[in-house]
Amino acid sequence: MMYNNEHFEPVITPNVDKPNCETIEFYIQHENGYKALEKALKMKPAEVVDEVKKSNLRGRGGAGFPTGMKWSFMPANPVDANGNPKPKYLVCNADEGEPGTFKDRLIFTKTPHRMIEGMIIAGHAISSNKGFIYIRGEWFKEARLMQKAIDDAYAKGFLGKNILGSGFNYDLVIYKGAGAYICGEETALLNSLEGKRGEPRLKPPFPAQVGAYGMPSCVNNVETFAAVPYIIEKGWEKYAKMGTERSGGTRMIGVSGHVNKPGVYELPMNLSINDIIEIAGGMKGGKLKAVIPGGASAPMLRADECNVLTDYDSLAKAGTMAGSGGLIVMNDTVNIVEATYTLLKFYEHESCGQCSQCREGSHWLARMFKRILDGGGTQDDLDYIAKICGNMAGQTICAFADAVTGPALSSVRKFREEFEEMVMKGGLKGIGRTESVSHKMVGAHV
Ligand SMILES: Cc1cc2nc3c(=O)[nH]c(=O)nc-3n(C[C@H](O)[C@H](O)[C@H](O)COP(=O)(O)O)c2cc1C
Ligand code: SF4
Repeated sequence: MMYNNEHFEPVITPNVDKPNCETIEFYIQHENGYKALEKALKMKPAEVVDEVKKSNLRGRGGAGFPTGMKWSFMPANPVDANGNPKPKYLVCNADEGEPGTFKDRLIFTKTPHRMIEGMIIAGHAISSNKGFIYIRGEWFKEARLMQKAIDDAYAKGFLGKNILGSGFNYDLVIYKGAGAYICGEETALLNSLEGKRGEPRLKPPFPAQVGAYGMPSCVNNVETFAAVPYIIEKGWEKYAKMGTERSGGTRMIGVSGHVNKPGVYELPMNLSINDIIEIAGGMKGGKLKAVIPGGASAPMLRADECNVLTDYDSLAKAGTMAGSGGLIVMNDTVNIVEATYTLLKFYEHESCGQCSQCREGSHWLARMFKRILDGGGTQDDLDYIAKICGNMAGQTICAFADAVTGPALSSVRKFREEFEEMVMKGGLKGIGRTESVSHKMVGAHV
């Protein structure tokens, strides 16, 4: 084992390879299941928030926002215009749909009670009595499994009224989305939850003020919740120590593409991309050419840049991001123009269309990449791509437009010679390749 972190131990996946690990009986018997809840219910809500703050847990949904701080933004005693108390809601974002990202699905199917327990503790921490689990539309089997897990938690008294005699009431319901990537964006998710079109809302107001059904709400990722029981059970210090100075704990990384053992790995933060490739069985079918380190929207890195550590800050310093933990590995058989085009087609399809910069920009980027592939590109196009991206990033209602520019801009910047060659030689045909492996490897929209 090459984990160079003496403090590391799996927080979320210690038993995910064991039979029946998804059942409540297994969780209680082998993982001290729901003991953290018992402990948390004896703590004051503010103490739970403080513990999570000190643990340095950062949101695993993409942006890496500190979780404890997000919880502390929730108003203490919100009231409506008539002075009546307003309910507060907790929402689990299980809409995982970014190409290359598939870690949350493992938690859902193998250790759902860890996530449920984390949600109940979070509910207590923000003094909410109701949680929604928003599930990606395509996850039929996962939704069934989660419903069973919720039913079992009710049957054992971990959900419902007066949980473990503490006086705390908490209900959890599943809401199935219809399968749109944009519904993973937290405000689009809230709209969708309310039965409206899944379109992002302008912020402010932020969900902590006006969230689901107009009530103060807190949205967190599946993995974020699943980390909470460990923090409460073992203490913030142990969790914080496993990570780096500003990012506590472990990370679930879904490794796909040209490696011998693709899959989901729970790893310490202080590993480099090269280390992770080795853990995933090493390169398959060629030499390393490029890596997308955090889901499709994270800017690409070249092979010579892959010695970088995979914590949030190191990847940000390297001009990319840890994102949603989807590490896509490409060997030297991959044509970068074509691989990027595959991703751009995805984004073009998934833009909600509210902002012209995003709607038109993602469409034009996909068309330009296609033209270059078909032999109609010019050298000027390469600068034009950067110009379009410049007009998209930071100019729109949500971060989707920025996400589109991640692969588009980084591929031209990092592999410009490949684009130039393609323009010069009249597209993919001129390069002498007729079939691409990159479609299969990179378009891993699990
Ligand atoms: C286009 C887009 C898609 C997103 N998809 C997801 C998703 O599938 N799951 C998720 O947890 N967060 C997703 N996010 C991030 C959420 O908006 C939000 O930041 C996150 O759920 C907060 O949880 P965390 O603080 O635990 O990370 C997405 C963001 C954008 C802009
Ligand atoms: S940036 Fe794109 S996805 Fe986000 S609101 Fe605007 S059009 Fe919709």
